[in-house]
Parts: sequence; structure tokens; C-alpha cells
Amino acid sequence: MPTLEENVSLRPYNTFGLDVRARYFARFASADALRQLLQLPQVRAADKLILGGGSNLLFTQDFPGVVLKNEIRGLEILSEDGDSQTALVRAGAGESWHGLVEYALDQQLSGIENLSLIPGTVGAAPLQNIGAYGAELRDTFDHLEAVEIATGALRVFSAADCGFGYRESVFKNVLKHQFVVTAVVLRLHRQARPNVQYGAITETLAELGIGGEPTPQQVSQAVVHIRRSKLPDPAEIGNAGSFFKNPEISQAAFDRLKSQYPDLPGYPVPGGVKVPAGWLIERAGWKGLRRGPGAGTHGVHARQALVLVNHGGATGSEIRALAEEIIAAVRQQFAVELHPEVNIL
Ligand code: FAD
Ligand code: EPU
Repeated sequence: MPTLEENVSLRPYNTFGLDVRARYFARFASADALRQLLQLPQVRAADKLILGGGSNLLFTQDFPGVVLKNEIRGLEILSEDGDSQTALVRAGAGESWHGLVEYALDQQLSGIENLSLIPGTVGAAPLQNIGAYGAELRDTFDHLEAVEIATGALRVFSAADCGFGYRESVFKNVLKHQFVVTAVVLRLHRQARPNVQYGAITETLAELGIGGEPTPQQVSQAVVHIRRSKLPDPAEIGNAGSFFKNPEISQAAFDRLKSQYPDLPGYPVPGGVKVPAGWLIERAGWKGLRRGPGAGTHGVHARQALVLVNHGGATGSEIRALAEEIIAAVRQQFAVELHPEVNIL
């Protein structure tokens, strides 16, 4: 029988390192264990938070309900397809995402090497269709298995069912809080297909002395190198990666801004232009800013303005207040609306 702990500190379970408490806390290592938990009266009655690695969460207060921590393990190759030179790989939702990337590389399978070193669990990856360095989860996604919270029923979601978008899926909007992802199945390639469209990868490969067509391992190595140089390691400085999404604005709005700020970068997307929020925040003067007593307890990362950080001792409400100030400042200076990527609780 699964156990429910009471009044548990969530500090070890969120990468901002915020010391909030959960009224109830339990772990599950299988879909069946999860179903048993969901039937407990305290769990049925309470608000539920499904927790992976806590790397995309900002707690602004204690969690008054039940935190259910996903620890479903398992990595396996389900099948090989000789014609398409692909393999289906199934991962338990509680596996670490980067562990899955390493497993794929060990099995000589490519397709997710550009997503190396993204923190968190496999099960959370579809929630916001994780993406980095020219790749997204949806590029290799085949299907996922999820347990419906209300009924305990297992449901399979195809890519189309998931409604993936930029940092979006149905699990963040129409089906929010309704399903627990228990396994993810990817279709990976036996034939390496290096994806080096993201400029920094080519530059880094050259810097690392890697010539010719890179192997998936080498692409992974380059991505790891770039990420370590830019993004703060949560083990050292509390953070949840990009705090905001990169906003998509109309072509007309982009042209107006570009005439005023000729060095504003922009990437065409259907219906407009995506602009880097990090650029807007930096240009508005917030990069490296620190708030709070002494040398500052929280602020904007000095090497990546899109990342808000807890230097130690900040509260989630303080970080949320800083985010709100940044949203207002960017709105005032550029008439662009920023939206948080991080889930604020
Ligand atoms: P959590 O933070 O535990 O949960 C996130 C949300 O998903 C919550 O709403 C939670 O309830 C829900 N959830 C979690 N697991 C499940 C499940 N099994 N079923 C249903 N709902 C669930 N993201 C990117 O896309 N690209 C990046 O390059 C990137 N870089 C990052 C760098 C750093 C340093 C950090 C700290 C974060 C970064 N992120 C990035 C964000 C984060 O790593 C991803 O969003 C990741 O997928 C979150 O996984 P998690 O297990 O930690 O999720
Ligand atoms: N930039 C600045 N100043 C900054 C930061 C960025 O001017 O302080 C500008 C530069 O012009 C740079 C551009 O922004 O060329 C893009 O910067 P970067 O390559 O660092 O990427 P990003 O847009 O800031 C996005 C994702 C990251 C992902 C990287 C790499 C979002 C919200 N963020 O960041 O994802 O790792 O691209 O692909 O889309 C995350 O989601 O948590 C995350 C870290």
C-alpha cells in the first residue's frame, strides 16, 4: 500500500530551491501504485500536483493538497523497423530526460541529441513539448500513455491528440490537471541525421575541433558545452530555465520595433515573428540585476536574461513579483507582452 507523508518540505524537489511544504506527499513507481493512491480518500478530496524533477515550477506558497512524485522507471527498445531504419523506444515517465538521451546514444539511436541536458523527467517533456537547439520533443514523439485522474483509466495519446505547439500541449490547457503521463514512446533513427541548423552548434563543434559531419554523440557534446556556458546549474544557483516564453509578434509590430532597434533579432514563424525575450529583457536593463538584502537573494541571471534566479533565501512570491516587474517594463518599452513558461503555483 502506498504511503502518504504529511507536511513534507519540497525544497529538494524544486530547482528554484524554494522551501515550501506539501500538506501530503507520496511517490509512485508504477501506474497501478498511482491508481491506488488516487483512490485514497485524502487524495481524492485534495488538489493534486504531479511532480517530476520540479525544474519548471515556481512555488509561491505551501501546497495545500497532495504532491504525487513520479518515480516510474524503465527504458526499452520496443521494436525496430528495418524499412524506415527506426526504432521505437519506451521510457517510464519518472526516468530522467537526459538519462533517456544517454540511453539513446548508447543504443546508437539518434533524434534527441539536440535536447541533451534538459533537466527533469521524461513524463513532463510532453507537457510543454520541450525544445532546444533546433529540435523539439514532437519531432521524435510517437505516443504516450497516461492515467486519467478522475477514473484511473489508461489512455494512449498520439502526437495529434497531444496538440503540441511551442512550449504547449493539451496537457497545459484543455486537459490541464486531468492526466498523469506514465510512459512516453519515441521513434528514433538508426541512421544518424545531424541537425546543426542552430548556428551555435556549428560554431561550438569547430571550437571543439570536430570537423566533418558530426556524430550524434558529438552534437550532444556541443549542446552540453553551450548549455553549461550559458545556463546556471540548479545545483549551484536556483532557477527553472527560461522563465518566459519567447513572444511571437505580428510582422507589422516586428517591423516597427526593428526600425527603432535595428539589432533586434527575429525568427519567422507562421503568422508573425518570434523575438528573443532575453534580448528584450537585457535591452530593458535587467540582465544581472539583483534584488533583496546583502548582495541580493534573487534576480536576473548575468549570462542569460531569460533566466530568473534564486541566489539563496528568496521566496517564490519575490521571484513572481520580479517577473511581474519585468513583464511591465518590457510592455512599456517595446509594447510586447511576455508570458511565463514556468508553472507558477
Ligand atoms: P516539473 O517541474 O516537475 O513539472 C512541470 C509541469 O508538468 C507541472 O505542471 C507538473 O504538474 C507537470 N507534470 C510533471 N510530470 C508530469 C506527468 N508525468 N504527468 C502529468 N503532468 C506532469 N525546457 C525546455 O523546453 N527546453 C530547455 O532547453 C530547458 N532548459 C532548462 C534549463 C534549466 C537549467 C532548467 C532548470 C530548466 C530547463 N527547462 C527547459 C525546463 C524544464 O527542464 C522542462 O520543462 C522539463 O520538462 C520539466 O520537467 P520536470 O520533470 O522537472 O517537470
Ligand atoms: N539574448 C540576448 N540576451 C540574453 C539572452 C538572449 O540578447 O541575455 C538573445 C540573443 O540574441 C540570442 C537569442 O536571444 O541570440 C537567443 O538566445 P539563446 O540561444 O540563449 O536562446 P533563448 O531564446 O534565450 C531558447 C529556449 C531555451 C533553449 C534555447 C536553445 C525558450 C523560452 N527558451 O532560449 O529553453 O534552451 O532557446 O534552443 O524558448 C527553457 O525553455 O527553459 C529553455 C532554457
